[in-house]
Amino acid sequence: MNDDFLTRLPKAELHLHIEGTLEPELMFALAERNGVSLPYASIEAARKAYDFSDLQSFLDLYYQGMSVLVSAQDFEDLAMDYFRRAAAEGVVHVELHVDPQAHRARGVTLDQVMTGLTAACARARTELDLSSAMILAFLRDQPAEDAMQLLEDAQPYLQHFSAVGLDSAEQGNPPSKFREVFARARELGLERVAHAGEEGPPSYIREALDELQVCRIDHGVRAIEDIELVERLADEGTVLTVCPLSNVRLKVVEQLEHHSLPALIDAGLVVTINSDDPAYFGGGMRENFAACQKAFGWSDETLTWLASNAIEAAFMDDARREELRQRLLNL
Ligand code: ADE
Ligand code: ZN
Repeated sequence: MNDDFLTRLPKAELHLHIEGTLEPELMFALAERNGVSLPYASIEAARKAYDFSDLQSFLDLYYQGMSVLVSAQDFEDLAMDYFRRAAAEGVVHVELHVDPQAHRARGVTLDQVMTGLTAACARARTELDLSSAMILAFLRDQPAEDAMQLLEDAQPYLQHFSAVGLDSAEQGNPPSKFREVFARARELGLERVAHAGEEGPPSYIREALDELQVCRIDHGVRAIEDIELVERLADEGTVLTVCPLSNVRLKVVEQLEHHSLPALIDAGLVVTINSDDPAYFGGGMRENFAACQKAFGWSDETLTWLASNAIEAAFMDDARREELRQRLLNL
């Protein structure tokens, strides 16, 4: 009954790893195209292997899966495949985290990555009426020097990036490790976001705010353990990009019904709903909204408010934001 409403709802996705949109079907097709061998006997076997105990157990398969991405065309195909699925479920804007360090380590150049992704973003805008922004993500489990090198090497492409981000294995890799890198990004005119409080403690969220000067926190769900932090996030209107199905699949929470989302909303935080790595976590934006609607009994008003939060917090120009606001009003 509400199915149609959830599809029509104009959804902006602020937390998505483009490499995490690689469905097993495309993974197998690209493996064949590029002569890359995969550790799975079949597409079904790949899906079956997506049974994670924590973030690291997912990251191991995530980095392995992306080994099929070699040429610019592969990156364009990857993103177009995702953009078509997203548009079909009512996604109107996507902000893509991109992990160039993971590709460079395999001998794939930043130019190959960017040529493919920028082509797909331009096509999505004209072919699907889907706008996008890109986030240059640093792998926090790699040395800060590597992140700084990537940032310097990315200068020819900076017009394509709205922000820098911080992802990969959180525990033991606090935001402060990247203080200088984020300061340099700020100097270069880039916005800043960071994963924090997914598996890491609430203190990592404070560090991301104080030392990296981020405008949004990716995940941030462990903020709920620190009431003063919750108050601060509410007072400052800091946006959390929460990924409900991801949190269940990576065992951040046991089941969705136990998720801190309703408590965070009650505490006055600005939260948004996102899919993180939809090919690995059992669904895209529509599935995430639908699962929350079911688990928390959210009304259409709450779902609309969540969609509005994302439109307001997105990296997009005023004209596009106004267009999407109007679409939300005329639902
Ligand atoms: N890279 C891709 N997905 C991620 C996640 N959920 N957390 C941290 N790094 C990631
Ligand atoms: Zn993420």
